[in-house]
Amino acid sequence: MSKQELQRRAFEASGVSYEESLKATKLIPSLYERLGRESGMEELSTLFYDRVFDDTENDWFLSIFASSTKAEAIDNQYRFFVQTFGGPDLYRQKGKGKYTRLAGRHANYPISHEAADLWVKHMEDAINEHKYLETTSNPCKYGQNQNNSVSEQHYNNNIDMIEETKEAMRAYFRYTAHYIVVASEYMRDDQLSGGTKIDEGRVW
Ligand code: HEM
Repeated sequence: MSKQELQRRAFEASGVSYEESLKATKLIPSLYERLGRESGMEELSTLFYDRVFDDTENDWFLSIFASSTKAEAIDNQYRFFVQTFGGPDLYRQKGKGKYTRLAGRHANYPISHEAADLWVKHMEDAINEHKYLETTSNPCKYGQNQNNSVSEQHYNNNIDMIEETKEAMRAYFRYTAHYIVVASEYMRDDQLSGGTKIDEGRVW
């Protein structure tokens, strides 16, 4: 199956096109800056994995994560986010190889489209709780002027920017989660790369 065919299938499953999903990786300022760099990315992964590991109502979903500790899962994911969204290559520095190859790294787990939907739901809840993405209680993370006061114009820019950030993140995660499911169905055994193995194979 060609890359284009995989992208088309991922679009059908997620409702988000490949091009739309890429916006999150191309924002200016970068998503890495918008979320508060390393500590902000770590907060996002912590909020997310807190939800996953507390989701005892969905045993089938929680069991996918049975072989990982929460701390290790947070560390892997936040490093990936820092690297993918415009920061330093922390994921690579952990010995994860040059490429991220998400499909290969997930192919050993039983991940259905239903699991992708639940993953996205937990991530959307995490996004909505992130302190840099709140528009109500804390509206001026990056809209302040030099006097430390917030003009109406700055305030509006800020809200628009937060909405743009959230929209781009939702599209990226939705598309990527379903892409992982679609691509995993077409992986050959020799293309698998587990969580800790460095993958010398092809780029997915
Ligand atoms: C489709 C639903 C998904 C499920 C059920 C799932 C499940 C998992 C599991 C069980 C792990 C191993 C945890 C660890 O020890 O690190 C993992 C790792 C990871 N996941 Fe996912 N995941 C999904 C989607 C995604 C998406 C959409 C992304 C990114 C946009 C992502 C990024 C990662 C990363 C970076 C790792 C670490 C891989 C490594 O160790 O190199 N996952 N995922």
